Amino acid sequence: MEDKKTIFSGVQPSGNITLGNYLGAIKNWVSLQEEYNCIYAMMDMHAITVRQNPQELRRRTLDLLKIYIACGIDPEKSLLFVQSHVGAHAQLAWVLNCYTYMGELSRMTQFKDKSTKHADNINAGLFTYPVLMAADILLYQADLVPVGKDQMQHIEITRDIAERFNSIYCKEGNPVFKVPKGFMPKSGAKVMSLAEPTKKMSKSDENPKAYISLLDDFGVMVNKIKSAVTDSEGKIEYRPDDEGKAGINNLLTIMAAVTGNTEEKIASEYAGCGYGDFKKAVAEAVVEELRPIRARYDELSKSKDYLEELCRTGAERADYIASKTLKKVYKKLGFLI
Ligand code: TYM
Repeated sequence: MEDKKTIFSGVQPSGNITLGNYLGAIKNWVSLQEEYNCIYAMMDMHAITVRQNPQELRRRTLDLLKIYIACGIDPEKSLLFVQSHVGAHAQLAWVLNCYTYMGELSRMTQFKDKSTKHADNINAGLFTYPVLMAADILLYQADLVPVGKDQMQHIEITRDIAERFNSIYCKEGNPVFKVPKGFMPKSGAKVMSLAEPTKKMSKSDENPKAYISLLDDFGVMVNKIKSAVTDSEGKIEYRPDDEGKAGINNLLTIMAAVTGNTEEKIASEYAGCGYGDFKKAVAEAVVEELRPIRARYDELSKSKDYLEELCRTGAERADYIASKTLKKVYKKLGFLI
């Protein structure tokens, strides 16, 4: 166990967990559990960069834990915890804020997008969000961070911050931070909106037809896929998005990520088939993928005590690891410890 490399990742409990979160991240996490020491957290501190309803945030955090387990994350193999339960995340984030430049943060596309979307609440947390994310990852000396494409820029800045800190304080070798790498799935790293396929599928989209929630009724999922925006060409071909194929490409990607085949192979399998039939096949594949997940999720809903106990023990174990890194950092900085 000790010799294995470490994985760290997480999802914000800020909305309905989508098929994008599952195919871009969580599904990938499951397959990494055997080979790595995996640490997966519920990122509630990141969620408050946008206003949240307190009761809903509490409920969603526990729902997210249920989703992790239902998707196949085994709490016996992977360490699961709630970000706000481990004080070191906020503590290291503060330190790293002093080693991150305004210029590099202002280049983050997520900040640009979110500040346009939440123009009435462009708070400092939204701006320094990637620094907290760097703290999450660096505390656990993660080797690999499995995420979707939209988070890769945040992994890059995490690497820059880690290298900067190491180069200032660890000139004689023995770096304080391991420099992590991002890791994306072959298919599904960017699942697009079903309503506007040039936009990312997002759990905070105002239009519920744009995304599939893992907790949608199966009938609703089928209808959303059937009404997914495509094109008028009527050809199932995997061609560049700007040739008008964004909608079909997205359905091919979803099918590829669910089945493990490539987009090209699926396109050739369904060549000559009408969009209606193809959409039906995609909907069936998605429903069959999510059916056992839903059954396990419903089962877990009866075990609140078990889930709360997992959060408690997870936080203790995470705190132990994180505190070690934080102590090293404090020592380097010259804090009296
Ligand atoms: P979040 O909650 O937005 O998304 C969670 C994960 O899902 C991926 N994802 C997608 N993948 C494919 N297609 C999509 N449409 C799609 N939408 C989301 C994301 O890339 C992500 O992997 N900042 C992070 C949470 C976080 C984190 C961390 C992740 C906080 N600290 C440390 C890794 C390591 C976020 O907002 O993810």
